Amino acid sequence: QNIILVGAPVDSGKDRKGCIMGPDAFRTARLAETLTELGHSVTDTGNLTPEETDIAEHPHLVALPQTVGWTRRLKTTAKKVAAEGLPIFLGGDHSLALGTVAGIADHAAEQGRPLFVLWLDAHSDFHTPQSTDSGNLHGTPVGYFTGRAGFDDFPEVGNPVPAENVCMIGLRSVDPAEHEALAQTKMALADMRAIDEGGIRAPLAEFLDKVAAAGGLLHVSLDVDFLDPTIAPAVGTTVPGGATMREGHLVMEMLHDSGLVTSLDLVELNPFMDDRGKTAHLMVDLTASLMGRRVFDRPTRSFA
Ligand code: ARG
Ligand code: MN
Ligand code: MN
Ligand code: MN
Repeated sequence: QNIILVGAPVDSGKDRKGCIMGPDAFRTARLAETLTELGHSVTDTGNLTPEETDIAEHPHLVALPQTVGWTRRLKTTAKKVAAEGLPIFLGGDHSLALGTVAGIADHAAEQGRPLFVLWLDAHSDFHTPQSTDSGNLHGTPVGYFTGRAGFDDFPEVGNPVPAENVCMIGLRSVDPAEHEALAQTKMALADMRAIDEGGIRAPLAEFLDKVAAAGGLLHVSLDVDFLDPTIAPAVGTTVPGGATMREGHLVMEMLHDSGLVTSLDLVELNPFMDDRGKTAHLMVDLTASLMGRRVFDRPTRSFA
């Protein structure tokens, strides 16, 4: 595959700083080299910068002008690079997904194909600028790209992703306002309890069947806090009880086997909080599984 790495050192989506170093941590952990060794052609386009805006700071929302500037830049860039290969957006906090998903949705519409989004995260990030208590806009991307009202300062979402095309896996921290809004949608939601009871395979397999049947494009947004903080400590918003290393790899391997993934966000890595690069390396290993790394080409033994 033709993989395009796009550095998006977005750090405006919350108060705690550090995600600005994310793209360079992924590079240091040898993301490009690892994907090249798997046989892909890899181009690193370097880091983007936000567009300038003349929007005023907001009393409640953290760094609104900067996040609007990033959304403008990323929406345009995502649409363009999606036409050239498989983009991997190196975050940066999760507010980058306002722009990446909105831009990919424009690309999908141009192709005449529906866009589906797999959201791997402890959080649902379904707030609007009005409903967020923290004022942190990294809690709003899914609200934005599914077309919820209230994002007045942001670029218009020309092609909102229908909520029923979104699947969230790994949920264990959902605010009351998000909970209420999610209940009005047909989004596929797999919280950690569902995963404990039935395994992580079932909800993903069901979603992938749906994407395949619709002939859709599939964007994957991987938040570091999807993973358990014991294996992935380098994130500001740790929530205990997350996905294990094996669950993470299984998801990525199933995504690879499906052949459906057309774009990817790697977000919320805060290298300042990492333990000798452990989280950055894990994120690179997961990306490698998604892009085809495996131990054997066939099951070595069937336990069916
Ligand atoms: N729901 C919380 C908030 O709105 C946490 C959001 C965390 N989002 C993230 N992308 N890590 O502040
Ligand atoms: Mn998130
Ligand atoms: Mn999260
Ligand atoms: Mn508030």
